[in-house]
Amino acid sequence: MNTKIKVGLIGFGRMGRFYLQEMLRSERWNISYVCDTNPHALELAKQLSPESKVTTNEQDVFDDDDVQAVVLCALADSRKRQIEKAIATGKHVIAEKPITDTIEKEWEIVEVAEKSTVFTTVNLYLRNAWYHNRILKFIEAGEIGELAIIRVCHLTPGLAPGEGHEHEGPSFHDCGMHYVDIARRYAQSEYKTVHAQAVRMWSYQDPWWLQCHGTFANGVVFDITQGHVYGQLSKDQTHNSYIDVIGTKGIARMTHDFVTATVELRGVTQTIREEKPFGGKNIDILCDLFADSILSGKRNPNLPTFRDSAIASAFAWECLADAARHEMPAIGNLQTLDEIIERRRTLTNGYGLLK
Ligand SMILES: NC(=O)c1ccc[n+]([C@@H]2O[C@H](COP(=O)([O-])OP(=O)(O)OC[C@H]3O[C@@H](n4cnc5c(N)ncnc54)[C@H](O)[C@@H]3O)[C@@H](O)[C@H]2O)c1
Repeated sequence: MNTKIKVGLIGFGRMGRFYLQEMLRSERWNISYVCDTNPHALELAKQLSPESKVTTNEQDVFDDDDVQAVVLCALADSRKRQIEKAIATGKHVIAEKPITDTIEKEWEIVEVAEKSTVFTTVNLYLRNAWYHNRILKFIEAGEIGELAIIRVCHLTPGLAPGEGHEHEGPSFHDCGMHYVDIARRYAQSEYKTVHAQAVRMWSYQDPWWLQCHGTFANGVVFDITQGHVYGQLSKDQTHNSYIDVIGTKGIARMTHDFVTATVELRGVTQTIREEKPFGGKNIDILCDLFADSILSGKRNPNLPTFRDSAIASAFAWECLADAARHEMPAIGNLQTLDEIIERRRTLTNGYGLLK
């Protein structure tokens, strides 16, 4: 019996290609459709997956009763409509984040999804990262005592303003919501207070760097620093990405170079250093958990929920709003931003490049 799950991919840009690659590799999926409004993207889809039907019309995917699941990786402005169509036609949904483009619509979608019997999940990829799950287990084992402080930093020379993702919001929302979500996962509590500071780098209208700190309801404190401002014009680019978790007795931390992640654990009974492949966006893990859920009829509890995504998205927007209420300096000029965009346009290997 053919137990491959028939799936339609909607949105065939950078993320869509990652899903195609992992789904072809896993052999658990039959990619029935690739849909993108841009015919050039579909030319590539035909080459990479000749057996899939390609279409510029998303309705073809929703109207096909054989399609069991959809992966929604176009941009946030089309996601609400697509999620609603998927749920209405009984198709399971893997959605990219954010689940849509405004907080109000996100909560509407959470409600629709939670009432539905189809499975839904969202690619909050850090939840499937081996390094975070390793640290979480160490904390659960009591090795660092009581969790007190969560420090997260993600600075890269990545997606600059004006390069795409306009519907996903400024950097702290588009990318920062992942770090907001993972800090909440560690705290196992809801955000309570926050103070945010941002800077309008290159005098762009929106801040592209933001740092916030505050508390969770259970008293755990956090700081998050995120920005795609980290030396886009440096001759040799680099980044700075880490988590630093401090307990009453020990600590746990992680850093990575996008190839290898290194976890260092200093607990009361164990000192451990582990290095393993970074794992990228962990789409293989997400797709496997989702395939298990569909085939068993039981949703895997480790799958991130739309509610998780809406909470992270709303808090990221709240941080941006808080930063706007304080002094928010503008530094540099738009000419530098033009130089950055021009340089990134011709890069073939760089941080978060869109086509
Ligand atoms: N989870 C993560 O870590 C992560 C990382 C990067 C991007 N994302 C999210 O994934 C989504 C896609 O990002 P990307 O980097 O692949 O962008 P991208 O610009 O590379 O790709 C988007 C694609 O969607 C197509 N598209 C636009 N509107 C469409 C529509 N209505 N129907 C069908 N296709 C449509 C575009 O033609 C383009 O090919 C974004 O919402 C982004 O926030 C998530």
